[in-house]
Amino acid sequence: FKDGRGVLVEVLHVGACGTDREINNGEYGVAPKGFDFLVLGHENFGRVVETGENVKDLQVGDFVVATVRRPRGSSIYDKIGTQDFTTDDKYFERGISRLHGFMAEFYAESADFLIKIPPAIKEIAVLLEPLSIIEKGLKQASDIQERLKIWNPKTAAVLGVGNVGLLTVMALRMRGYEVHGFGRDAREGYLNAELCEAIGATYDSTAEISVIDSVKKYGEYDLVFECTGFSPIIFDAMQSLNENGILILASVTGGERKTDAVPSDKINQMFVLGNRAMVGTVNANREHFEMGVKDLALCEAMYAGWLARMLTHKVKGLENFAEVFDILENSSKYGAIKTYFEVK
Ligand code: BGC
Repeated sequence: FKDGRGVLVEVLHVGACGTDREINNGEYGVAPKGFDFLVLGHENFGRVVETGENVKDLQVGDFVVATVRRPRGSSIYDKIGTQDFTTDDKYFERGISRLHGFMAEFYAESADFLIKIPPAIKEIAVLLEPLSIIEKGLKQASDIQERLKIWNPKTAAVLGVGNVGLLTVMALRMRGYEVHGFGRDAREGYLNAELCEAIGATYDSTAEISVIDSVKKYGEYDLVFECTGFSPIIFDAMQSLNENGILILASVTGGERKTDAVPSDKINQMFVLGNRAMVGTVNANREHFEMGVKDLALCEAMYAGWLARMLTHKVKGLENFAEVFDILENSSKYGAIKTYFEVK
């Protein structure tokens, strides 16, 4: 770091998610130039052990989380520091694409990409990276809805209540929404459903009620957040939006799935006559991580211990990677919400 902004970070926790599973299965991800392997890990949490002479914003001992994407592309968005909106096909993401990740004992990073974490949330800060993705989605929604001059959203549906969905339920509850979570599993004995209800959201199994039919029960939603990974459901989501409502899509669906029997006239008409909107969202920038820090802290203050209940599977030591990937592959068998390494 020639500019003296380098920081050496000791890794404490690294989370594992579906993206890591896909990369490990050879379906996604790119090794850095000159390497025939990629060090995985993008959901990170660590402690500063050394700082360059121009680092004034961080000190040795501070807890930090690093952002994931770097502005290495040629698009205008990379140049203005909003690389999460890059239009380049090649993007640079630590632990995912062209840059090594955080499943290591130490990493070096510029202070520009490190977010300081208050010690009070250190035990749950490994959830910040996945939460940052949701924060970006919600920020986009509020930016888009400025078109309305007045937007007073009251109800939201969250499709999928896995780890990303639960964090979405939480972020919306922190904003005061009436939140309705949906998943495939039966409600009885399902920890994720219990977690929805523990912070004042509902949970319904789509085996019992479809998202479209849920509108008869809860009314049309002002906001729908899709995080199931099952793309056909987006057409149901479109039809369950309120006038002026917004649908946020956050699942990376790498497959070849197609669906027919889409009521296209109806959906088109709803979007046109009702000024509805839909937006895709990926990755996150510094501001979204900072929003996430506030939501984690607020959630801890309002529902102490709730976030820790999401951390269902802790594996000690990076050498036990096989155990982590087994849990990722069989997450419903294990009842896993968040699986992560305790590196140190
Ligand atoms: C990461 C994002 C990344 C996306 C696509 C997700 O798992 O959280 O930071 O942009 O994968 O690579």
